[in-house]
Amino acid sequence: MGFPAWVINNIPTLLRPLLLLSLSIYHFTLTVYETIFVEKQPKQLFDLRKLRFKSFARLWTHHGEEMSVEMPGPLTDLLSQCHGVVLDIGPGSGQILPRFDPKLITAMYGAEPAAELHPALLKNAKKFGFGDKYNNLLCGAEPESLIPALDKSGVLRQMNGRISEKSEGVFDEICCVRVLCGVPTPKETIRGLYNLLKPGGRMVICEHVVNPWRTEGRIAARAMQLFYTLLGWPFFMGGCELQRHTFDYLKEAAGEEGWASFNLQYIEPKTTVPFIVGELKKRS
Ligand SMILES: C[S@@+](CC[C@H](N)C(=O)[O-])C[C@H]1O[C@@H](n2cnc3c(N)ncnc32)[C@H](O)[C@@H]1O
Repeated sequence: MGFPAWVINNIPTLLRPLLLLSLSIYHFTLTVYETIFVEKQPKQLFDLRKLRFKSFARLWTHHGEEMSVEMPGPLTDLLSQCHGVVLDIGPGSGQILPRFDPKLITAMYGAEPAAELHPALLKNAKKFGFGDKYNNLLCGAEPESLIPALDKSGVLRQMNGRISEKSEGVFDEICCVRVLCGVPTPKETIRGLYNLLKPGGRMVICEHVVNPWRTEGRIAARAMQLFYTLLGWPFFMGGCELQRHTFDYLKEAAGEEGWASFNLQYIEPKTTVPFIVGELKKRS
């Protein structure tokens, strides 16, 4: 067993996020150093949003692969069934692409706002057999960024670039894997994604969320989420928030009509980074 694996296996669970936080502070520091002294672009330091994306992209480029070896719960099984026209939100460098079956997919759209990750994303799309089916979009998941990018790509053609509460949607599947923790307006963004789903379409979810301490979680883990947030977790981790009520936002996204089925399970609910994993189906 190597040193990092030993540390991860032996450190108390509530302290494990400290390793990731330290790593992200290290990459942030190096990003600032490179921006000033290597790229000689000190002015870029004033665009904090861009700087944080760049620093997170650096962290992900170095460690994304090892952080994707084991994924929580039934995620691999759920992704392997994705078919038709698929939207992958925040695909990063494409670490989860090998879990899809490209033969079942007609077209795949990856909405990734970190430009630095696109070369690796395209490389992995090719490596894992997507060929021309893969369309990388330089945008975020929030409607004001995503809709124009989808429109430009041509996928909204049949609806003249407009998606409203009443439109039928264009995607058979929308995948959100380790991304909704970082979108700037989660409620509106998730509602926007719901509108983009076809009737009968499916959302595949794998997200870390606020600790469910009132039910199956643990109050100490909930307190540690607050502690890490105060230490600067969202700042150094590219906007990632530990205390998101994503479960509720997903449930509410279907409005009064409700989801045809809503199956999400908590994975490791007693930890500081508990996940919800599962699938949601829109009514036909
Ligand atoms: C933890 S990585 C996960 C990547 C990939 N989904 C996976 O699980 O391997 C989070 C990704 O979300 C992207 N991201 C950050 N803000 C976003 C936003 N507003 N919309 C879409 N993606 C975003 C980041 O650039 C990063 O690539």
